[in-house]
Amino acid sequence: MNDPLRTALAELLDGLPPRAVGAAVERLIANYRGATPTDAPILRDRADVAAYAAYRMPATFEAVAGALAAFAATVPDWAPASHTDIGGGTGAATWAVADTWPGTRPVTVLDWAEPALALGREIAAAHPDLTAARWQRARIGTGLTLDDTDLVTVSYVLNELAEADRAALVDTAARAARTVVIVEAGTPAGYARVIEARDRLIAAGFRVAAPCPHSAACPIEPGRDWCHFSARVGRSSLHRQVKGGSLAYEDEKFSYVAATRLPAHPAPSRVVRRPQIRKGQVLLDLCEPDGRLSRTTVTKRHGDLYKAARDADWGDAWPPADQRA
Ligand SMILES: C[S@@+](CC[C@H](N)C(=O)[O-])C[C@H]1O[C@@H](n2cnc3c(N)ncnc32)[C@H](O)[C@@H]1O
Repeated sequence: MNDPLRTALAELLDGLPPRAVGAAVERLIANYRGATPTDAPILRDRADVAAYAAYRMPATFEAVAGALAAFAATVPDWAPASHTDIGGGTGAATWAVADTWPGTRPVTVLDWAEPALALGREIAAAHPDLTAARWQRARIGTGLTLDDTDLVTVSYVLNELAEADRAALVDTAARAARTVVIVEAGTPAGYARVIEARDRLIAAGFRVAAPCPHSAACPIEPGRDWCHFSARVGRSSLHRQVKGGSLAYEDEKFSYVAATRLPAHPAPSRVVRRPQIRKGQVLLDLCEPDGRLSRTTVTKRHGDLYKAARDADWGDAWPPADQRA
């Protein structure tokens, strides 16, 4: 994770009683497990928001950074001229965008939870590219309006919205932005929300740049599997306190779609499961540009390609750029 973010998050908890923070985290986890859209913000006060930020922001940051890295590889010479983060909360996606494409640009964060915006603004003071960001109160729904923007991010938000509000959000983003990146939890429900949004973006004239190597229907049969990826997140002392155990990291599972009106170059194919390394061979499960899933076996006989396959990771483009014909 970005060091200034890690430091800013650690400082948030200074002076707060560990028990109170632990209790706030437990309550938020229970609320989020409920997964039912609420009529009022779940993040109600500073203790809630500090707990959310310290506990979840490192993971949402890494997930968004993973999605943005995959998208950035499809538009190598591009950087957003402006960014709007919808349901941005404490601003994890603004940090991920600033990490992916350093530099200043107009940044707007919209959320209905004022305490989240206030804390996001406070943390962002530690990042030179984010100090001028605008943190604005807005309710996502049919009344949402957006100024034109290059890039919209929507990270871990769809799950909190009713169906009509999800549709309104995606359609409004599609009208205002040239690129839309949506990230959800890597669960069957998160994947279903991503696919629903992907369909709406394609219907609005966007092409999918990542993770899919195509804009055809997703080949995964609903209910049988779900497309998701994994980002490694260093665990803080708060994580160890709440979850126990001594692991230094955990893996955040996420689903995402990056869709754009830009002339992007999607990956030739994408590794959609953890590669299986066997003696002398690597098995790669791929999503292919013709919209099919396939399994490829790369063996020692493939020389440099075999070396690349041994280094390939779940979520990578395949083959890597230096192995393409
Ligand atoms: C799980 S948090 C994700 C925050 C941030 N995007 C991230 O990735 O860390 C969901 C955010 O969506 C916001 N939200 C949920 N429903 C909303 C609505 N109807 N209007 C505006 N914001 C909403 C919440 O206040 C919260 O900040």
